[in-house]
Amino acid sequence: MVGTTHRNMGVEGVEGGVGLTALLVAAARAIETHRHDSLARDVYAEHFVLAAPASEGWPVRLQQVPDGDANPLWGRFARYFGLRTRALDDFLLRSVHAGSARQVILLGAGLDSRAYRLDWPPGCVIFEIDREGVLAFKHKVLGGLSATPKAARVPIPIDLRADWVGALADAGFDPAAPSVWLAEGLLFYLPSAAETYLIDTVDRLSTGGSALAFEVKLEKDLLEYRDSPLYTATKHQIGIDLLSLFDGEPRPDSAGDLAGKGWSVSVHTPFDFTRRHGRGPLPEQNDALAGNRWVFANRPRP
Ligand SMILES: C[S@@+](CC[C@H](N)C(=O)[O-])C[C@H]1O[C@@H](n2cnc3c(N)ncnc32)[C@H](O)[C@@H]1O
Repeated sequence: MVGTTHRNMGVEGVEGGVGLTALLVAAARAIETHRHDSLARDVYAEHFVLAAPASEGWPVRLQQVPDGDANPLWGRFARYFGLRTRALDDFLLRSVHAGSARQVILLGAGLDSRAYRLDWPPGCVIFEIDREGVLAFKHKVLGGLSATPKAARVPIPIDLRADWVGALADAGFDPAAPSVWLAEGLLFYLPSAAETYLIDTVDRLSTGGSALAFEVKLEKDLLEYRDSPLYTATKHQIGIDLLSLFDGEPRPDSAGDLAGKGWSVSVHTPFDFTRRHGRGPLPEQNDALAGNRWVFANRPRP
């Protein structure tokens, strides 16, 4: 085991604790899907929200939100998740189509339905790592829809603070072949030591031609915006206190560490992508999104 902080992990499935955040992202993706100018479409997302008792009454389209886009949670924050989904969809597809990587590892996969949604090249395997309760719920909902993945999908129910590397190897991952890794909306929930272990491990298991994308929050911003509309709306409207779920330890410089190991790294704000796509959140005062960074890293071929 790495790390010792377990306060985030009291609940195993999607009904509470950090697992509930997977439903939050699913609701945001459902809302995004039904926008006329959607940045990403996920037809499975609303089914997760409608199936879970914990998300009873949550909206799955913006028309169900009385103040619509003015609502900090279901307006701006949901659009943020839509934008993030689009940016990371593009990253994954670019990575597999441009190179020879055919192994995709979704770390903290939650209710990510990319194995079912995206057009993967032949031979792709999608490994999904999350805790057992979250993956069991996902399996149940997708099974009820008779959904068919567009690539081989291998769920790996394990806590990322346990020996997930052994579980990944047992599931057929080949470190000698290039791979594409994603940690979307995950690292700020992990103890600092678990993040360092995760990044070091991805580095160790990634041969030339591999790629990794992840999201971080700048440490100085973690608590600075605690009374921002985004955090307070999330707490008061659906009872998720994100700041209490984030790990409070000083954060490692994972982007810098990867650059030091020879990866080519670029760091973006979400707002860079808002400008690129012509829609999405823009900076505002007292902004909980101000410290979010999306990191894209590639390991060059020798
Ligand atoms: C905000 S959700 C994001 C899910 C998914 N990546 C997405 O963007 O839709 C965070 C996910 O990380 C998972 N997670 C958090 N800590 C974890 C841990 N220690 N081990 C495994 N999964 C973890 C949660 O169960 C949850 O599904």
